[in-house]
Amino acid sequence: MGALAKALREATRRLAEAEVPSPRHDAEALAAHVLGTDRASVALAAARGDDVDPGARFDELVDERARRVPLQHLVGTAPFRDLVLDVGPGVFVPRPETEVVAQPAVDEAAAVVTAGRRPVVVDLCTGSGALALAVATEVPESEVHAVELSEQAHAWAARNVARWAPGVDLRLGDAAGSFPELDGSVDVVVSNPPYVPPQSEPVDPEVRDHDPEVALYGGGPDGLAVPRLVVAAAARLLRPEGLLVVEHADVQQRALLATLTSSGGWRDEAGHTDLTGRGRYVTARRAAS
Ligand SMILES: C[S@@+](CC[C@H](N)C(=O)[O-])C[C@H]1O[C@@H](n2cnc3c(N)ncnc32)[C@H](O)[C@@H]1O
Repeated sequence: MGALAKALREATRRLAEAEVPSPRHDAEALAAHVLGTDRASVALAAARGDDVDPGARFDELVDERARRVPLQHLVGTAPFRDLVLDVGPGVFVPRPETEVVAQPAVDEAAAVVTAGRRPVVVDLCTGSGALALAVATEVPESEVHAVELSEQAHAWAARNVARWAPGVDLRLGDAAGSFPELDGSVDVVVSNPPYVPPQSEPVDPEVRDHDPEVALYGGGPDGLAVPRLVVAAAARLLRPEGLLVVEHADVQQRALLATLTSSGGWRDEAGHTDLTGRGRYVTARRAAS
């Protein structure tokens, strides 16, 4: 067995002992990070028996991962659809389930282009910029605006905007009063706001100890205070027939749909699932008045 395979085997053992959910994957990803290559090449080199020692830095990173520091913080990036976003302390790590939430926003922006107009898209609670940048890069004709409350998260978003789509209008502030100059003119409002209810502390140490509280807890008894604020902002921003897309936890779908129905001015309210079949986001169109 070559040095790389031995190092990976030992790292996988340490991570499994620390109950890291995918120990072999993470060991390979950390080795790839240290060696400046990708995970598939590391797996291949290990299988070939290459005598590559990933060194002391690899051991340090494995120790940190065993202390349940998120893998994405250790490698400094997180994948999101076609993007690789810079992340670290102070910003929510974008999740695979949110990739599904981006799709209706991308599709709606593309449909507006097909109809011969320039889509105006707003991402409320942008975090690392994930949803805004997905739309901006996948439908480059779009005019994209994004807002984030936390200064630290905003700084990460600014890095990602500079790298992937410098034309995105990124602002620091509260989604509640955001972009008053766009009132009634927006084609798509997309949002993955904080929505964890107060009594549901996340179990995974990576989330509980490393995602910022402002990114997790939605406020109010059901965690839906910020999502409801997002719905109210979208009601103000969207043009008639404009589309709202909001992520939520699986248990919150009925309550969020009820918010849309009771607040009035919406049509085609619908709940959707993610790839695991759990309720994940709602969509609705702003009714023509
Ligand atoms: C669950 S994270 C999602 C981040 C990003 N949209 C994503 O999908 O990766 C929620 C984000 O909303 C931000 N936030 C919380 N309250 C906000 C508010 N009132 N206005 C704007 N942003 C807010 C948090 O700081 C955090 O970055």
